[in-house]
Amino acid sequence: MNLYDSLLKYSNMGYYPMHMPGHKRNPDLLGMVNPYSIDITEIDGFDNLHHAKGILLKGMERAAQLYGSVHTNYLVGGSTAGILAGISACTKKGDKILVARNSHKSVYHAIYLKELVPVYIYPRPERQFGINGGISPEIIKELLIKHPDIKLVVITSPTYEGILTDVKAIASAAHEHGVPLMADEAHGAHLGFHPGFPKGSVSLGADIVIHSIHKTLPAFTQSALIHINGSLVDYEEIKRYLAIYQSTSPSYLLMSGVEQCVTLLEQRKEELFSVYGKRLELFYEKMKQLRNLRILDGETVKASGFYGFDPSKITISVKNTEMTGNDLYYCLLKKYKIQMEMVSKDYVLGMTSIGDTEEGFKRLGDALLLVDKQYRACDNKDNSSPEAAIGSTEPPERVMLSNQVYDEPRENILLSESAGRVTAEYVYLYPPGIPLLVPGERISKSLITGIKGYQKSGLSLQGLQDMTGRYIKVVAKA
Ligand SMILES: Cc1ncc(COP(=O)(O)O)c(C=O)c1O
Repeated sequence: MNLYDSLLKYSNMGYYPMHMPGHKRNPDLLGMVNPYSIDITEIDGFDNLHHAKGILLKGMERAAQLYGSVHTNYLVGGSTAGILAGISACTKKGDKILVARNSHKSVYHAIYLKELVPVYIYPRPERQFGINGGISPEIIKELLIKHPDIKLVVITSPTYEGILTDVKAIASAAHEHGVPLMADEAHGAHLGFHPGFPKGSVSLGADIVIHSIHKTLPAFTQSALIHINGSLVDYEEIKRYLAIYQSTSPSYLLMSGVEQCVTLLEQRKEELFSVYGKRLELFYEKMKQLRNLRILDGETVKASGFYGFDPSKITISVKNTEMTGNDLYYCLLKKYKIQMEMVSKDYVLGMTSIGDTEEGFKRLGDALLLVDKQYRACDNKDNSSPEAAIGSTEPPERVMLSNQVYDEPRENILLSESAGRVTAEYVYLYPPGIPLLVPGERISKSLITGIKGYQKSGLSLQGLQDMTGRYIKVVAKA
């Protein structure tokens, strides 16, 4: 069956989407005519994204107003395009930037393209769930003093699992040194619209904020926004790079979808977010009945010393049970027809949005309570393979910059025999696409053990050209 037929068939099979896109295939929020009837190119009267001065500019100005930003641009290449443009616009070739190590791979690709020297800051791991926590403003302050030549700070908040960093404190630390802050808020386009949700990074002082509106709001996949604030970022440079990284034929379907989403929020954000907030509250309340499975919530996050939590992400830990993450993920999929967003060794993640229905929350909640009863608690589970949190193993040693690796002769060797060698490939778990190893870093024994643990748990390890995951490309002489 081809892709189109498979999509049609799937859409009628009754699976509930606890994953992105945030429209959740819910036609009640945003209907649409036959997409072909409105799919055009830059014809008269329809403006040009790369030189916007008409209908598109007006739409982007409304988006800026909604988020309280000075400038906002549509992105049709996802947050990826905005991240590439944001980092490129703030740096010259060879500059130094301060980067949270739990950054998305697009951040690493920008570093590669501009030949930047990254100074990494590692998030503190959240040990109970084995996920990445937030970034410490204190360490950012120290690193900015230690490296006065840093040109940009890049952090991710919220994380995939919904952990927030103190963006305001980091913005003011960066600004004291005249350095702009880019907040990758790809997972937080829905923040700030209702008191039940944390504030968004535009209002917290970040100079560049990136939003994948397709992830957590009702919008088509690939649609995203970049917001620019303050005087430390040159907006003209941002636009120049957006024209480099994005298609010269941006989709009018995607752009009108963004505009529809903005209109929906302008008109109904209070109502939609208060219904959604209530549903989440009830869901978390109901989940207090769980005996073996555990749900990440604001209290756990605060008790672990992290800054804040976005309740839209539902992270379910199986650590205390006889199950693996995969067991729970496939049980929800096969038995209850609930498609979750991602699975890791010890947890499963669901993404929710204003597009979710009451029935959807009930279905997930009921399924989890049933599964919880069937699987016994277990206190001697083998936890010997490392967590998904990147800070839980020793940071790899950087031997060369990623852009230097590809000019060197490379060879393919067995991953199991690669300890001590310098990787010429990324190694990351997808999702969320955060590198365990960046080209140019030395492979350690503990990392090989970790990677084997992920492979054994059936997690999706990517980056290696060898699809079997047995071989890794390394720098020949290093
Ligand atoms: C933290 C983070 N930033 C950026 C991106 C890239 O977003 P997009 O898929 O919209 O390009 C992702 C995608 O998963 C992400 O998780």
